[in-house]
Amino acid sequence: MQIVVDLNRCQGYAQCAFLAPQVFQLHGEEALTYAPAVPDDQLERVRGAATACPVQAILAGEQ
Ligand code: F3S
Repeated sequence: MQIVVDLNRCQGYAQCAFLAPQVFQLHGEEALTYAPAVPDDQLERVRGAATACPVQAILAGEQ
């Protein structure tokens, strides 16, 4: 699965980094980095993070 985070929309809520720390890392309050190609063992965590993000900044596409 490939993901894109809309970094203009991201407000640094950190739910993603909490739920899927192997994929999302927050550096400071709003500097988010992430791995766009999600390994299979992280799929459920990333889906949970996408649901939990208060501003729906995580866009997931099945690939
Ligand atoms: Fe940003 Fe949403 Fe994560 S606001 S830090 S992408 S939970």
